[in-house]
Amino acid sequence: MTLQDKGPGKLECDAHFGGLGPVPCQVLRGVHIHRHALDPATQTQVVEDVRAIAQAAPLYSPLTPWGKPMSVRMTSAGQFGWYSDRRGYRYVDRHPSGSPWPAIPLSILNVWTRFAPDAPVPECCLVNYYAEGTRMGLHQDKDEACFDWPVVSISLGDDALFRVGNVTKGGKTESTWLQSGDVAVLGGDARLAYHGVDRVKPGTSDLLPKGGRINLTLRVVT
Ligand code: SIN
Ligand code: MN
Repeated sequence: MTLQDKGPGKLECDAHFGGLGPVPCQVLRGVHIHRHALDPATQTQVVEDVRAIAQAAPLYSPLTPWGKPMSVRMTSAGQFGWYSDRRGYRYVDRHPSGSPWPAIPLSILNVWTRFAPDAPVPECCLVNYYAEGTRMGLHQDKDEACFDWPVVSISLGDDALFRVGNVTKGGKTESTWLQSGDVAVLGGDARLAYHGVDRVKPGTSDLLPKGGRINLTLRVVT
């Protein structure tokens, strides 16, 4: 992979994935952002598969450990789902209904294989649904047992203002708009980077008939 300096926070890389040829990406504070990585047909397939996940494991609003419901609604696929309530953040092997999480669909596993070719199979696909007006505060993805493997994040639907900080709390942050089909990879030195979503811009995509944004994050948990 070659990196080119395009000015502050704007390194670009040409990564080769599984013989698919070079995919341009922007590097924002160590997070690799692959623009338009999923073509429209793939995005439609992934959304259809996410709908099936949400049918088997309905979206819910988790409580923060402080007892406040999160504005983003969530569910998961895979061996483990990410969960939060007054007992804290953690992975659990069942949906709150008591059913096991559905399997991660092939259309989504294919994205992992493309952008994390050296990593083991992901054990969790967290599905976040952002309706208009929802946001996600700055946080680290640090509930996994090992940070050697990246978190691969897929954006679908309306544009989102994505903020990236540092691997420790505080300090400078930088933001970029993520669009439908973009894939962001938090790996290497940026695996524990603070990140969040400040806002979602309504009406910027027609992928989801009712609007809003879906974000999928794939993780190796154990
Ligand atoms: C997350 O950090 O779980 C979601 C990030 C995003 O929505 O882009
Ligand atoms: Mn996160």
